[in-house]
Amino acid sequence: MRHFLTLKDFTKEEIIEMIELGLRIKAEVKAKRFTPYLQKQTLAMIFEKSSTRTRVSFETGIYQLGGIGLFLSSGDIQLGRGEPMKDTARVISRMCDMVMIRTYSQKKLEEFAKFSDVPVINGLSDEYHPVQLMADYMTMIEHGKDQNPVVAYIGDGNNMAHSWLMLAAKLGFELRVATPKGYECDPDIVEDAFIFAKESGATILFTNDPKEAVAGADVVTTDTWVSMGDEEEKEKRLKDFAGFTVDESMMKLAKADAIFLHCLPAYRGFEVTEEVLEGPQSVVFDEAENRLHAQKGVMVWLDEKRTEV
Ligand code: CP
Ligand code: NVA
Repeated sequence: MRHFLTLKDFTKEEIIEMIELGLRIKAEVKAKRFTPYLQKQTLAMIFEKSSTRTRVSFETGIYQLGGIGLFLSSGDIQLGRGEPMKDTARVISRMCDMVMIRTYSQKKLEEFAKFSDVPVINGLSDEYHPVQLMADYMTMIEHGKDQNPVVAYIGDGNNMAHSWLMLAAKLGFELRVATPKGYECDPDIVEDAFIFAKESGATILFTNDPKEAVAGADVVTTDTWVSMGDEEEKEKRLKDFAGFTVDESMMKLAKADAIFLHCLPAYRGFEVTEEVLEGPQSVVFDEAENRLHAQKGVMVWLDEKRTEV
């Protein structure tokens, strides 16, 4: 049995396999063929933070696969009143077939997985957002940006930046990360990424200059400057991130046919301008839709691994 907690745990081949599976299921569903790959299975979805895309894509995804999703907000279940993760894990995994969790620390997620009898999927933690990257790479494939792409990530060295690091390091493409001083990626995650990059041939560059990162890039991406859990630092962050807005002048430094990605929700006028987000290079709504398709690939793949002997 495998869990999907971080891309660190997967080979390049496995990541591609899951995305290709997602693309196959996407084509089937677009042709109105709903194959019940996960018939009668229940996906428990635990949320300790807000969500639009993750909730809707997982709930719709499991339904299209013949199963059902249970939305469990931590405010409504005993976890929110102090029931330990390890007890919650053992109870839920005896009743459900798969679990998705959106929580704070990766450690909590790992603890849940350790005590779970069923596959656990990371629906975003403070450290990583791996299901988002599956959708992002699917979108890159569909827009012809998967052959030795140069990806520029502009902004906070947060869960999205860490996930891009892992994807680039595993798949072997060039990633340039531009963060303001003091908002760099977690050094332990960077260290791991360099180990995988050595094997895959990925090039990873860190800079405090967004222009350097974006020059000649095939894909430009960013994320909110104030992630869930960082709200108290909002005022300071908005000042510290000055100069890191992805605007039309920044997009002009990338390749003429570069695409713009954003995991959403986007804050117009901060990490990205209205013009870029709504402009011709932006594929953010394809990317959002691909959450649904990519995650079905992940769920069916995890189910196959469980039944393989
Ligand atoms: N991108 C993403 O995970 O969005 P939600 O927070 O709406 O789930
Ligand atoms: N970095 C953001 C991503 C939201 C999908 C956050 O953690 O809030």
